[in-house]
Amino acid sequence: MRVAIVGFGFSAEKSHVPVYRDRSDINLTAAVDPVTARRAAALRQYPNIRVYETFSDLLEEYSDEIDIIDICLPNALHLENIKQALLANKHVLCEKPLVLNKNEYNELVHIANEQKRILYPCHNYKFAPSIVHAAYLIKSGEIGKPLFASFNIFGAGFQRGVPHWQPDWRKDKALAGGGIMSDHGLDAISVAQTLFGGSPQRISAHTRSLNEADSQLEDLAIFCLDWEEKLINISLSSIGSIPKAYYRIQGTEGEISIENNDVFLSVQNKPVQHIFVPTYFDDPGHANWFNGLIDNLLDCINTKNTEPFPLMEAGLVLDIIEKANSSSYNGGVWMGLEFIPKSLQLVS
Ligand SMILES: NC(=O)c1ccc[n+]([C@@H]2O[C@H](COP(=O)([O-])OP(=O)(O)OC[C@H]3O[C@@H](n4cnc5c(N)ncnc54)[C@H](O)[C@@H]3O)[C@@H](O)[C@H]2O)c1
Repeated sequence: MRVAIVGFGFSAEKSHVPVYRDRSDINLTAAVDPVTARRAAALRQYPNIRVYETFSDLLEEYSDEIDIIDICLPNALHLENIKQALLANKHVLCEKPLVLNKNEYNELVHIANEQKRILYPCHNYKFAPSIVHAAYLIKSGEIGKPLFASFNIFGAGFQRGVPHWQPDWRKDKALAGGGIMSDHGLDAISVAQTLFGGSPQRISAHTRSLNEADSQLEDLAIFCLDWEEKLINISLSSIGSIPKAYYRIQGTEGEISIENNDVFLSVQNKPVQHIFVPTYFDDPGHANWFNGLIDNLLDCINTKNTEPFPLMEAGLVLDIIEKANSSSYNGGVWMGLEFIPKSLQLVS
C-alpha cells in the first residue's frame, strides 16, 4: 500500500515513520507540510519521496500513486483534510481525536460509506501490549466477572508539537478542540473498551481548568462510567510533573493491575503473578504499538470493512465527552449516553 503523510510533525516522525520503514507492505511515497524545515525532516529520512507544501498540490500532481492518506495534523485541521482525502477516493488513517464533535463525525462516516473507503482513527491504546494482555486475561476468566476498574492517568502539562510550527497549539482551543478529555480521556475510554468490550450507558463527571492557558481547556477530569454492570472510575490530570498511568481492574475472583511494563495478576489463594510486558506508556511516540494498528487497518482495507472498531469507538468517545461537559456543568449529575455502537468488541 502506498501512503502519503499530511502534517510531518512529532507524531508522523516519531510514531508512524519508524514503523513504515520496517514494513514491506507499506511504501511511503509522499509527505505534505507547509513548513520547509518539516519537509526537510521528511526528506532526511526518506530521500526518495515527493514533498508538497499543500495537500491540494499533492492530489493534483501525485494522486494516482497513493492508496492511503495518513493525517497527522493538529486536531481542528482533521475534518477538512479527511473530507478532501475521502472525496479523492483514498483510504484515510487519521491521528486522534478524529474530529471535534458528533456532527463532524456523522458527516465523515456518511462520506466514507458513500465513497466505500476505510476511515480509521489512530486509537493506538487498543494496541498497547500490556492492555492487550490484560484484555486477554479478563477474557480468559482469570479474575472472574469484572466488577470495577480504576484508571489514574497523570500527565505533565500540555504535550508540545515540533518547534518549527506552533508548538503550543494544544493550548489553543481553536486548534486543539478540547483539553484532557479529548486527549488522555479518549485513551482511557479506548482502554476500557478494549478490556471490557461493549459500551457504557451513562456518565457522571467533574472537570476543571487549573492551567493558565487563555482558552481554559480542562486539564483535570474525574468521571465514572456505568459500563454494563461495571463501574469504571477514571481520573485524569495534566497538572503534575511526572507522567504516570495506573490501571486496576477488580473481578469476583481476582485483580489485575498495570503499571507501565508490569502487569500483576492477583487471584485468591495464589501467589501474585508478575508479567513483564514491554509497553512504555511514558514514550509519547508509542511507535511499538503502531504495528498492530497498521495490521488492523490493512485487514479492514482488504476485507472492505467500512466499520473498523476504532471508528465506532470515536463516535462513542465524542458522545462521552459531550455528556461529561454537561454532567460537570450540572454538578456531576448522571447523563445517559446515546451512541449505540454497532460493532464494538474486544481486540482478539
Ligand atoms: N497517537 C498518539 O499517541 C499521538 C501522539 C502525539 C500526537 N498525536 C496526534 O497527532 C496529531 C498531530 O500532533 P503532533 O504532536 O504530531 O503535532 P505537531 O505540531 O508536532 O505536528 C503538526 C505538523 O502539521 C504541520 N501542519 C500544520 N498545518 C498544516 C497543513 N495545513 N497541511 C499540512 N501540514 C500542516 C505542521 O507544520 C507540523 O509539522 C494530533 O491530532 C495529536 O493529537 C497522537
